Amino acid sequence: MKKIALFGATGSIGRSTLDVVGTIDGFRVLAISGHKNLPLLREQMERFRPRWVILTDEEAAKEWDFPVPAGTEICVGMKALTEIAAEPEVEIVVSAIVGRAGLESTVAAARAGKRIALANKESLVIGGAIVKRLAKESGARIVPVDSEHSAIFQALHAGKRYELERVILTASGGPFFRLPDEELRNVTVAQALKHPTWNMGAKVTLDSATLMNKALEIIEAKWLFDLNMEKPELEVMIHPQSVVHSMVEFQDGAVIAQLSPPDMRLPIQNALTYPDRVGGGPTRRTDWTRNQTLEFFSPDYSNPRFDALKLGLETARRGGTAGAVLNAANDLAVSAFIRGEIRFDEIVPRIRHCVEEHDFRPEPTLEELIELDQEIRKKRIMNNE
Ligand SMILES: NC(=O)c1ccc[n+]([C@@H]2O[C@H](COP(=O)([O-])OP(=O)(O)OC[C@H]3O[C@@H](n4cnc5c(N)ncnc54)[C@H](OP(=O)(O)O)[C@@H]3O)[C@@H](O)[C@H]2O)c1
Repeated sequence: MKKIALFGATGSIGRSTLDVVGTIDGFRVLAISGHKNLPLLREQMERFRPRWVILTDEEAAKEWDFPVPAGTEICVGMKALTEIAAEPEVEIVVSAIVGRAGLESTVAAARAGKRIALANKESLVIGGAIVKRLAKESGARIVPVDSEHSAIFQALHAGKRYELERVILTASGGPFFRLPDEELRNVTVAQALKHPTWNMGAKVTLDSATLMNKALEIIEAKWLFDLNMEKPELEVMIHPQSVVHSMVEFQDGAVIAQLSPPDMRLPIQNALTYPDRVGGGPTRRTDWTRNQTLEFFSPDYSNPRFDALKLGLETARRGGTAGAVLNAANDLAVSAFIRGEIRFDEIVPRIRHCVEEHDFRPEPTLEELIELDQEIRKKRIMNNE
């Protein structure tokens, strides 16, 4: 039995992870965390009987008055995540908290030498250099959950690192890929919250609409696979069907792709069972009896609608504090859009402004990154401050 700690159990990735471990053999859920959705956390507690249930939101935790089964302990506060990530019994940490809040627990798991099934891309976007260094020192293995990175991870096994020509990161293009340029300014929040191919949490859905999700994934890929962004060893390709989850091209011209229906349960299962593949899981199969067309478009970087990709590539190249600023500014800009303070097509330019104007440092410490994140979040992004 592999023992897992699932941080962000009540979210989209968290629920899919429990679907997987509830269906395949060989896993015991030792810890689950939830922030505000306590009724769901309670259901999960009753079904999986974990040793630890972590209520990360201290205010919401005051409302917890459910009976706790024998053998389960309730822990309150974010600090419990970092403590449980380092518990000797925990073998796999599934990092599925959304946003910057996933940083410290991912860092703790990296420091403690755990297998990390990483969904929380933001922890690499903010602190990629630090997470990678800690993982190297402790022997922690990071296995990606993000479908594109899982595909790259799998495809890389077809050759040696020095044989790699480039990684081709696919992007669905989001819900507005075919919307005329001049209509992007009128996009509403409700439209931005509907994704054509993936069913995901609200933040990642909105980030997919602006293509900022792909910008975050570019930075995530750089750190996960140690990509040389100057050569560059990474390219983005728009693939609206989301069936090819990404590709790897080797020196001899061979391109290895990973295909499957858009369903996060496969990359999650893969991250848990790696290096093995197991059958009997809840994942969907490709229907090869159905005719289907797969399209690929190279983004036209002279069109402002692809500015998020450009910004992601530049930020990945720069490293240092740039990723932390991009991530915080993205959260701010999206909140300003949701509140109706800025238009949809103003989101990426506001983020770019923050990244370009900040006081760049090439080798920040974790504490400096956390401080910078807080500093950026105090800005009033709608005024371009
Ligand atoms: N969804 C996808 O298909 C997908 C695909 C690839 C990568 N990812 C990445 O996976 C991560 C999770 O995404 P998601 O879509 O599953 O998000 P989600 O559905 O919004 O779930 C987020 C989880 O984090 C918890 N949470 C929220 N704020 C928190 C805070 N301040 N402190 C601690 N916990 C907090 C939530 O708890 P409550 O719900 O109890 O409040 C929930 O368990 C993100 O980094 C995302 O980019 C997601």
